[in-house]
Amino acid sequence: MKFFVDTADVNEIRALNDLGLVDGVTTNPSLILKSGRNIVEVTKEICGIVDGPVSAEVAATDYETIMKEAAVISKIADNICIKLPLTLDGLKACKNLSSDGHQTNVTLCFSANQALLAAKAGATFVSPFVGRLDDIAFDGMDLIREIRQIFDNYGYETEILAASIRTVNHVKEAALIGADVITAPPATLKALVKHPLTDAGLATFLADWAKTGQKIA
Ligand code: E4P
Repeated sequence: MKFFVDTADVNEIRALNDLGLVDGVTTNPSLILKSGRNIVEVTKEICGIVDGPVSAEVAATDYETIMKEAAVISKIADNICIKLPLTLDGLKACKNLSSDGHQTNVTLCFSANQALLAAKAGATFVSPFVGRLDDIAFDGMDLIREIRQIFDNYGYETEILAASIRTVNHVKEAALIGADVITAPPATLKALVKHPLTDAGLATFLADWAKTGQKIA
């Protein structure tokens, strides 16, 4: 499973990348707003930090303007992935950009039929939003399960990028179902390492080691 980090904070991205935990990055207009940076400048910097795909989202909704924005975004770096809305215009843009060899990420997916459309449009990634479905009392993981089955039924190569991941249990469930990628905020990725028995066990080992009076290096 690939781990993407869902942020435009270059310091967080650099730190996680140094740990070897980052396979890619996703951003969206809200995350660009939070960063306080210009979208082209910050995306270029992120693309220089990570080797994997970096999703940058168009802000237009009509096909012609989406394609104009996509032309700007696609020139940022070789590892850019153009993020498009799950609308008819977004899907049309996806079909054309994917056919031209660009990486594409169709975002704001909330139903299996929407994901099917993204796959038919040749998307590299489709982003079902798990947490936002949970927020309205649906089960976001049911959507991941349905999309996995549909893509496997037909051999679609579009990768399921489980997005709006908010908890460590979301990560585990998405992995059990077979999502290809999860994108999560830095804090959620870092929380994956935590277990109280790891902390307690390490404290005991360190205390006993100190009593031996030995040094390894
Ligand atoms: C993914 O591409 C989205 O940017 C993100 O996962 C949305 O997460 P949120 O619902 O927590 O804002």
